[in-house]
Amino acid sequence: MKEIIKKAEILVDALPYITKFSGKTFVIKYGGAAQTKDELKNSFAKDVVMLNYIGIRTVIVHGGGPKISATMEKMGKKPEFIHGQRVTDQETMDIVEMVLGGLINKEIVSLVSRHGGKAVGLSGKDGGLIKARKKTIKKVTPETGVSEIIDLGLVGEVTLIEPGLIDSLDKAGFIPVIAPIGVGPHGETLNINADFVAAAIASALKAEKLILLTDVPGLLDKKGNILSTLKKGQIAKLIKDGTISGGMLPKVQSCLSVLESGVNKTHIVDGRVPHCLLLEIFTKEGIGTEIVL
Ligand SMILES: Nc1ncnc2c1ncn2[C@@H]1O[C@H](COP(=O)(O)OP(=O)(O)OP(=O)(O)O)[C@@H](O)[C@H]1O
Ligand SMILES: [Mg+2]
Repeated sequence: MKEIIKKAEILVDALPYITKFSGKTFVIKYGGAAQTKDELKNSFAKDVVMLNYIGIRTVIVHGGGPKISATMEKMGKKPEFIHGQRVTDQETMDIVEMVLGGLINKEIVSLVSRHGGKAVGLSGKDGGLIKARKKTIKKVTPETGVSEIIDLGLVGEVTLIEPGLIDSLDKAGFIPVIAPIGVGPHGETLNINADFVAAAIASALKAEKLILLTDVPGLLDKKGNILSTLKKGQIAKLIKDGTISGGMLPKVQSCLSVLESGVNKTHIVDGRVPHCLLLEIFTKEGIGTEIVL
């Protein structure tokens, strides 16, 4: 008897969060690095379905880095990254589109459907959802201080999110699952880091939260300890001294940009922990790193 009462208590503990967040929008970035074991994928999908049933509107944006790299290698191409972003020639773009827009996107849609949710898979091409332009980055050689412009190929940055399609899907009770592929001004297909897409969508939808699920416990310091809360002012130093690098760079940049556009909270969470979403949302302690202004 005690045990069932305990279960009821656990459910009731979630009540303040349910009342606070019901009707609000959460944008969840499901990183490729966290899409590992079947058990975890199922627990992610169950969490998403549950959030929807209690009235939290979820929009899923997914990555797929490891699977894209593995497919490239199978096809005899060597993946290359600069500042955590994939250098993308036309052949790589075709692979990105097949793997992200096809394989991974539909896998997530099926998982959510299997657990009772109604998911619809999209890429930024559908309904003109993600408009983008080609992105170039500046690289400074530390020894000489000389900066050069680096062409990443068909890598894009978001210029505009047209949220009309997401709103229509939401009204009809569907959960959008979005592959981070954008359309350039001349109709070209552009590969965009999924963290940036999730951020742009969170800002466009005036979301309550942006949650980034990845394959580390959160933002780690030099010793590998998790930083539970990080303020905007602390970030520049951590980038400069190399603590934040590679795939973590777009995440912190995304968190900062959405906070400035009015999104309330941002979280970097370990997607390898079963039910990490529920733990982050419905407990006071939360897990992972919270970035605040
Ligand atoms: N300070 C840091 N703390 C934690 N992780 C860091 C840090 N600096 C760099 N990283 C790296 O960032 C990685 C996470 O980003 P990565 O782009 O690899 O995955 P993802 O964004 O979850 O997946 P995808 O790119 O497929 O969407 C970690 O695995 C880690 O290697
Ligand atoms: Mg990444």
